[in-house]
Amino acid sequence: MEVRVRRVEGHIIYDSRGRPTIEVSLTSENGVKGRFASPSGASVGRYEVPPLPKDGILGAKKMVDEANKFFHNFSFSSQTEFDDALRRFDGGVRFERIGSVVSLGLSFAAADMASKELNKPMFRWLAGDLEPVFPVPLCNVLGGGKHALNRSIDIQEILVFPLNARSYRDAYTSVVEVHKMISKLLAERDMFFTGGRNDEGAWVTTLTDEEAFNVVWDAVDRVRSEVGVKFGVGIDMAASSIWDAESKVYVYRRSGISRDREEQIEYVVELVKKHNLMYVEDPLHEDDFPGFSYIRRRLGDRVLIVGDDLYVTNVSRIKLGVNERSGNGVIIKPNQVGNVSSAIEAAKTASENKFKVVVSHRSGETHYPHLAHLALAVEADMFKVSPVYGERVIKHNELLLIEDLYGGKGVKRIW
Ligand code: PGA
Ligand code: ZN
Repeated sequence: MEVRVRRVEGHIIYDSRGRPTIEVSLTSENGVKGRFASPSGASVGRYEVPPLPKDGILGAKKMVDEANKFFHNFSFSSQTEFDDALRRFDGGVRFERIGSVVSLGLSFAAADMASKELNKPMFRWLAGDLEPVFPVPLCNVLGGGKHALNRSIDIQEILVFPLNARSYRDAYTSVVEVHKMISKLLAERDMFFTGGRNDEGAWVTTLTDEEAFNVVWDAVDRVRSEVGVKFGVGIDMAASSIWDAESKVYVYRRSGISRDREEQIEYVVELVKKHNLMYVEDPLHEDDFPGFSYIRRRLGDRVLIVGDDLYVTNVSRIKLGVNERSGNGVIIKPNQVGNVSSAIEAAKTASENKFKVVVSHRSGETHYPHLAHLALAVEADMFKVSPVYGERVIKHNELLLIEDLYGGKGVKRIW
């Protein structure tokens, strides 16, 4: 069935960090509205689609006005059909002219409008009539690096994820308990702890990295004994943002240590072994494909080695990584690639090649649940969204509602 666009509108609004973005809305010929506003990252990977056109947010607003002319009366019957037209509208290969705030805004707003028109949940508009299978929530609970002004731990994120939850409800609520328990333990062990949280709602601490890992493990052990859910613990090193390309070292600002490539690899391997980690994201910078394969060989497939800035949700980079066996998992952030269909294709390329798929939020988020539908549409293995803050909780809530309404096949098993 076809849906037809009558009007496109854009309004400058703000993301969770107070940075401007655009709420794009599409109205169908029947007056049905779809909306979306794109999130933004703190560290925009070198290979991401740029968020804004050259003349910034005002330029982006003008692009939406232009889109109103381009898409007037445009009708489409699938998401790929809409996104192909979006590429023609941009005119380039990578949405450089219009930027991802506009391109993903249009793309997700179109998905929203079409699913409402056809009276189906967005994941079914994107993927057909599938039975939902829920991803494992992967949640940032203790944070540092750029997200905390480099004044907390040097590792950008310590993440937890439930291993044996039967429903998404059990999975999500158990992670929320861990998040709460961490603040309780920090209040006891960190005399400077004020209850402060970073951009993504992860606690920040003046404890050492070592002490921070102990807090997280103690928290998950306590929650396990209370609710019976076991957890894995992982990290996002966000290594591109600490890589100094000139002197070729990774700079750890708080501890004052610089590590060259070999030292960085040894450090990561040691962290994984010492703290029994099962997930490591971006252990090396965005160009080190061979380094990712080496770490995979060193750690084996029991540990997920996941590329974020390395892959930037881009099919050709994922293919490169598959050939070189650079890790075994891929972060999918739709704004890195600027449209929904390409994000789906990227996720498919990963899962067809036995790489795990991790659909992820950005540190600057907006108040839309659409990412939850993308995760279901690609049958993501994990859903990397922090457990608190409204702009994140809305995405978990969407999965809880879908589970209540549609049932589904429970939560994915990773191992
Ligand atoms: P970003 O951080 O959204 O600031 O890029 C999230 C991440 O590195 O995964
Ligand atoms: Zn990351």
